[in-house]
Amino acid sequence: MQTIAIIGASGSMGSALSKSLAKGNYRLLLCANDLDKVKAVAADIKKSYPTAEVEAIDCTREACWEADIIIAAIPFGAEQEMADKIREVATQKIVISIANPLNDTYDGLVTAPDTSAAEELQKLLPNSKVVKAFNTTFAADFATPVIDGKRADAFIAGNDGEALQTVSELVETAGFNPVVAGGLTVSRTLESMQQC
Ligand SMILES: NC(=O)c1ccc[n+]([C@@H]2O[C@H](COP(=O)([O-])OP(=O)(O)OC[C@H]3O[C@@H](n4cnc5c(N)ncnc54)[C@H](OP(=O)(O)O)[C@@H]3O)[C@@H](O)[C@H]2O)c1
Repeated sequence: MQTIAIIGASGSMGSALSKSLAKGNYRLLLCANDLDKVKAVAADIKKSYPTAEVEAIDCTREACWEADIIIAAIPFGAEQEMADKIREVATQKIVISIANPLNDTYDGLVTAPDTSAAEELQKLLPNSKVVKAFNTTFAADFATPVIDGKRADAFIAGNDGEALQTVSELVETAGFNPVVAGGLTVSRTLESMQQC
């Protein structure tokens, strides 16, 4: 059983991802700033999936130390702080970047055209395997990933083949159709798709 740390598990995306992945054969460690909110998400999951291995954890670093896979379900602006906390314990681990680095008016990106949130996270975590996923999926979509009998596509980008395979399986567990779009630089396109 793989262990997944979900940072920002109390947020819209983090809680939706946590609930979806509770259906799979994963141990989930949920964390965010406010532990009470994370405990509420864990309790809610336990109601729907009583046998799910899910735990609210107060310490992001400890959760990431235990995890095989880390999901950064936090705003782009919080990633530097998160990276500083987890860098040593995230070595060689998959870190999933779901961020859309949108500006305040949602009509542009705060990142330069020659980079992306995922590539910036890779620079902050040079010894981790950053994979882009779920940024084109809305939080509300997790409740109904199948439309007219077809699973909605979820795009993935990354440079490590094994990590892409692992994340594809995770995306399938969440109910979506994984589409590997290319290397990590393709995140520039995937993130641009989310501008208004
Ligand atoms: N919403 C969507 O439909 C959607 C779709 C695709 C991608 N995304 C991306 O997903 C990410 C999360 O978006 P969201 O809409 O879920 O945001 P949200 O509802 O505001 O949730 C943000 C989460 O991040 C946590 N957080 C913030 N700063 C943190 C830090 N320094 N350390 C640990 N946890 C921290 C918050 O915890 P506390 O509440 O405890 O502070 C909360 O759990 C963003 O990067 C966004 O671009 C969102």
